[in-house]
Amino acid sequence: MCGIVGFSGTREAAPVLIDGLKRLEYRGYDSAGIAVADGERINVAKVKGYVRNLSEMTHDGADIKGFLGVGHTRWATHGAPNDINAHPHMSSDGRFAVVHNGIIENYAQLREELTAKGVKFVSDTDTEVVAHLLEEYYQGDAKKAVMRTAARLEGSYSLGVVCLDGTGRLFAMREQSPLILGVGVGENYFASDVAALVPHTKNVIYLDDGEFAEITPEEITVYDVRGIPVNKPISRIAWDVEAAEKGGYEHFMLKEIMEQPACFKATVEPRIKDGRIEFESFSLSDEELFGIDRIIITACGSAGYAGQVGRYVIEELCRIPVSVELASELRYRNPIINEKTLLIVISQSGETADTIAALKECRARGARTLAIVNVVGSTIAKLADHVIYTWAGPEIAVATTKGYTTQVAVLDMLAIYLADRLGRLEKSRYDELIVALHDMPGKIQRAIDLNRRVKRLAKRLCRHNDIYFIGRNLDYAVSMEGSLKLKEISYIFAEAYAAGELKHGTIALVEQGSLVVTLACYEPLLEKTMSNIEEVKARGAEVLAVVLEDNRQIVKMADEFILVPRTEPLFTPIAQIVPLQLFAYYVAKERGCDIDKPKNLAKSVTVE
Ligand code: F6R
Repeated sequence: MCGIVGFSGTREAAPVLIDGLKRLEYRGYDSAGIAVADGERINVAKVKGYVRNLSEMTHDGADIKGFLGVGHTRWATHGAPNDINAHPHMSSDGRFAVVHNGIIENYAQLREELTAKGVKFVSDTDTEVVAHLLEEYYQGDAKKAVMRTAARLEGSYSLGVVCLDGTGRLFAMREQSPLILGVGVGENYFASDVAALVPHTKNVIYLDDGEFAEITPEEITVYDVRGIPVNKPISRIAWDVEAAEKGGYEHFMLKEIMEQPACFKATVEPRIKDGRIEFESFSLSDEELFGIDRIIITACGSAGYAGQVGRYVIEELCRIPVSVELASELRYRNPIINEKTLLIVISQSGETADTIAALKECRARGARTLAIVNVVGSTIAKLADHVIYTWAGPEIAVATTKGYTTQVAVLDMLAIYLADRLGRLEKSRYDELIVALHDMPGKIQRAIDLNRRVKRLAKRLCRHNDIYFIGRNLDYAVSMEGSLKLKEISYIFAEAYAAGELKHGTIALVEQGSLVVTLACYEPLLEKTMSNIEEVKARGAEVLAVVLEDNRQIVKMADEFILVPRTEPLFTPIAQIVPLQLFAYYVAKERGCDIDKPKNLAKSVTVE
């Protein structure tokens, strides 16, 4: 959601903060702002819209002087996206400036309490209460004011605070919202995400919930909730700065689509040793493994759709029942879960609030938990019993691409691994699947090579206003992700339906002018899918078929087609989604959409 940064050093802070905000902008882009202390006062610049507006307004930060400051890029929750609600927020006496990611759940009560004491609020945000509480509790000791304020807050937050007392100090606090400290030489930083830190340092400290840090140019001191110093390990970030930059591509999304063969390789190859799959941190004893009677996969959005693919593959190979549950529903459903349940949570960011809550709920009920996560050190990675990382590198575009395909890759490997340990996979089939895994980067590359054809198709089909994605079995699972990609970045109404389900109601909407993207790579059910193509064509719909490269039958029936490279059938979703990602990308481009920053969305959804 929102992105926050902080800097304390001996050079001008504003340019560092603005550069950090540009790197965090995918987290929210409703407004941007900085607050910088120059020793005498805190100077604030903030503006509605993109970070580039802030950059223009301040001449790349040159107008705002001082060596210590915080910055914020906003995804609005409380209060409209405008200049006033933009962060940072100030205390009335000008001593404190605050930036915040998360939600202060008891803000209304705190606001009432402070108003009764005569405090005048200027914004509609929940964050402003923090600035006024700091002022209220400040009696010459900023650390104490920070602790007393934190004790009053309910909800989730990562907070950055500039305090103007003498030389000026920077504080960073974390409660259920990501916050990472960057350890530099003669300067130190904090940020919501390592993307803002990598240009300066690869040495980081991951704060835990309830901890806060006092940051000066020379030193970072981390305290627990009681104010007692905590010894925190320094970790090394594996990502290079180039990984978080566009590298010549027009959009991060296109760059990330193109990176998929390499990301698949990075995720899969190191885990195949002498032809056997080994996970570095997933170790269930035989007793635990044979005790599992069902698997629940939970996640949100695309991560959930990766889980849909995983469900088919795990059930097929392991013969264990698998259900895929929306995290936002599972957590409130009083779910029937016990120690025989293996809960798999999937999250690119590792910070999605609903997924975290579902994980906690199911753990409390005794489930064994395994997280598939991309961001090292993230909350979900820390909370789960076991973690398998996807090695996709930083994903900056709001619409996930390489995050999704690497999640599916891990689920495929997991299915093979579990099936083998359960004794449900013939050795010859196991070996065949391993060979097929090794082949996948080449197949994904061939799917990427469809780029020019897909671009042409997008140009021709981009004016459709309602698009249905249909498929059966694995094709259905992929159609969910295909339709989400399209709708979120092009704003075209697009929905996925199980092909056999369409005639039970939704076909009423299909008419002249509708486009039906038919995924027809799952061969055991091709004839059924062909009948569904006939049904929608009879109602006037245009059909774009996504089929395996040597399938001429469906090509003849469809108005347009995309030929997907033939792979091991269980792995086809990974090759199949690539042209659909490209289709969404080029349709959105034709329609002039802001592809990396689609409206109303943000990466890393850290609020409910
Ligand atoms: C869509 C997309 C979202 C995320 C969802 C979960 O392109 O990216 O649907 O998949 O918000 O996010 P993570 O994987 O970070 O938990």
